[in-house]
Amino acid sequence: MASSDIQQRAAELGRVIHSHNHNYYVLQEPLISDDEFDALLKELCRLEAQYPELVRTDSPTQRVGGKASDKFQKVWHPAPILSLGNAYGVDEAQAWFERMTRLDDRVEKTGWVVEPKIDGLTVVLHYEDGMFVQGATRGDGEIGEDITSNLRTIRSLPLRIPAAATNISHPRHIVVRGEAYIPKQEFVTWNQRLATSGERTYVNPRNAASGALRQLDPNMTARCPLALLCYHVVETDGKILATQWGVLEYLRSMGFGVADISQRFNNLGDALAYCQSWADERFTLNYEVDGMVIKIDDLLIQNSLGVVGKDPRGALAFKFPSVEVTTNLIQIGVNVGRTGVLTPYAVLEPVKVGGVTVKQATLHNFGYIFDKDIRIGDRVLIKRAGEVIPYVIGPVLDRRTGRERRPDLPTSCPVCGKPIRQSEHEAAIYCMNSVCPAQLRRNLEHFVSRGALEIDGFGEKLASRFVELGLVEDVADIFSLTKEELSDLDGFGERKAHALVEAIHKARTCQLDRLIVALGIRGVGAVVASDLASRFKSLDALRKAKCDELETASGIGPNISQAIVDWFSKRNNQSVLRKLRQAGCWPQQGTSINPSSGRLAGKTFVITGTLKNWSRSQATAFIEKNGGRVTTSLSKKTNYLVVGDNPGSKQKKAQDLSIPEINEFALRTLGPD
Ligand code: IVH
Repeated sequence: MASSDIQQRAAELGRVIHSHNHNYYVLQEPLISDDEFDALLKELCRLEAQYPELVRTDSPTQRVGGKASDKFQKVWHPAPILSLGNAYGVDEAQAWFERMTRLDDRVEKTGWVVEPKIDGLTVVLHYEDGMFVQGATRGDGEIGEDITSNLRTIRSLPLRIPAAATNISHPRHIVVRGEAYIPKQEFVTWNQRLATSGERTYVNPRNAASGALRQLDPNMTARCPLALLCYHVVETDGKILATQWGVLEYLRSMGFGVADISQRFNNLGDALAYCQSWADERFTLNYEVDGMVIKIDDLLIQNSLGVVGKDPRGALAFKFPSVEVTTNLIQIGVNVGRTGVLTPYAVLEPVKVGGVTVKQATLHNFGYIFDKDIRIGDRVLIKRAGEVIPYVIGPVLDRRTGRERRPDLPTSCPVCGKPIRQSEHEAAIYCMNSVCPAQLRRNLEHFVSRGALEIDGFGEKLASRFVELGLVEDVADIFSLTKEELSDLDGFGERKAHALVEAIHKARTCQLDRLIVALGIRGVGAVVASDLASRFKSLDALRKAKCDELETASGIGPNISQAIVDWFSKRNNQSVLRKLRQAGCWPQQGTSINPSSGRLAGKTFVITGTLKNWSRSQATAFIEKNGGRVTTSLSKKTNYLVVGDNPGSKQKKAQDLSIPEINEFALRTLGPD
């Protein structure tokens, strides 16, 4: 039993951590360093590990770890989750204003609130006694889907209100509406990371946010940099809110993120001018907006105006001119990626979109071209997604002349001419020749890049050059490059050649997980590689693993395990492995992690019951990777009992021996004493 001092300390830590989270993720003004924050979180984890009865569902340690489900439950919304009518330009907004004044003359004298119309996904958040208890999608406006576990992973979503340590009291019951989205910058990095690990990338931040929120496994959602901004109270038994401006202030005071460009105006003219001023400025925001929302500030007036269909009369979406334009599709080109995937792109008649001239746009995959019936010679609609990567939305059908040509599916790789294969489960087409120069170039770029072997001075340009010159036939050949060979090359010289050879030499002693990433197996990024390294400990063991053994490593499903087995079965990859071994680039997990200095060093664990997200072998691998030891029977020397569901007799024995019990979440965050 935790003493009252310890209970108080845990509660205090919970409050302080929530408050710092709020400063960091909502206000974006951290008051302490990351290290100081980590120290607080660690202290709380340690207390919760020692005294599991202190773990509250709203604890900051409990954001991740919900169970994967096979479907979402339905949730009835307490009130209809309405949509918005649109206005394109000032005239349409004026017409809306006049329609309202005819119904209610108080509209002429009312104030207005303008907010950004965030292009994300509506979420409906339920709080009982200050605790976040349920979150749902909008669905059809009446019934949504329960995505509580996924929403809990969003750092800017308060798990309890007030989020910050303030005197404000929370209502007993409140339902808040907001928009979940991915900040633009984070979207670009996240998509790049997905591409690097050969995973599916997203067309725009909205699709990515939607994909993340609809993951059946919250651990997958947690990987995505989702954020939240709120703007509406659907229902509460607390404070009576008379104005929309008051709603925003109230939400802010409880710790919800509120768009800081929201403003109140006394007359509609100023409100409209403010909306227009954001038409060009919107690109400076770190979230995508497709317009601004104008709302009557006085909620009594706003509500009494009622609803037309699903749109409240007293609020309006002032839509911006789109960043979509049309141009001619001249040709379809094909890129060959690192994993051999063929990605089509459109060669366009140059056109300006959002201030940038665009000559090419992605077509995602061949399935997309055929689904949308995109043809060469078409007038196409293109959009800059996330204001960064342009993509083709589809053809403008009424501009068809009959001279357009359906593209043919490639029958061979456009770079090496070798056969291709269409995968059964994905829309992707692959070049099957793993020595295809396009793949080799990309593979080499990846092999030496950050997160993989990270070789200083070795970038895209050198990779292309070495492949073109035939200096390397596979990635492992870089270990045979000599100073003499390199110093003969244009722009190299002896010093530069020496530095590069040294940097390559140094990379031989890399950690196992880095080398696994570097191999460039489809779906195997840093997280999967780290799990594989701690589970298998050497490339020898990994190479021999069967699909079912691979799937016992966390985060690995049938697609990735098959990709790993396929990779090791290829003859030229086996030759790469032989060369790596000969070059002395053959790390073992034990050599990169020192068990005596791991954060669980010297600690002995026993595991009992069924863990929520880990198999026994995954938990064992985690403990061992961090320097701990797992035994099957309890003794006085056991430091912790890791308890899952239906624990059995070991739990009773541990209590008799006063051995602390922890759950798997506490285990993940456990550190040295
Ligand atoms: S107000 C009564 N405010 O826009 C409340 N909606 O096209 C009606 N949206 O489904 C909604 N930002 O998902 C409102 N500041 C904002 C918004 C906003 C984004 C979304 C919302 C809605 C869609 C309507």
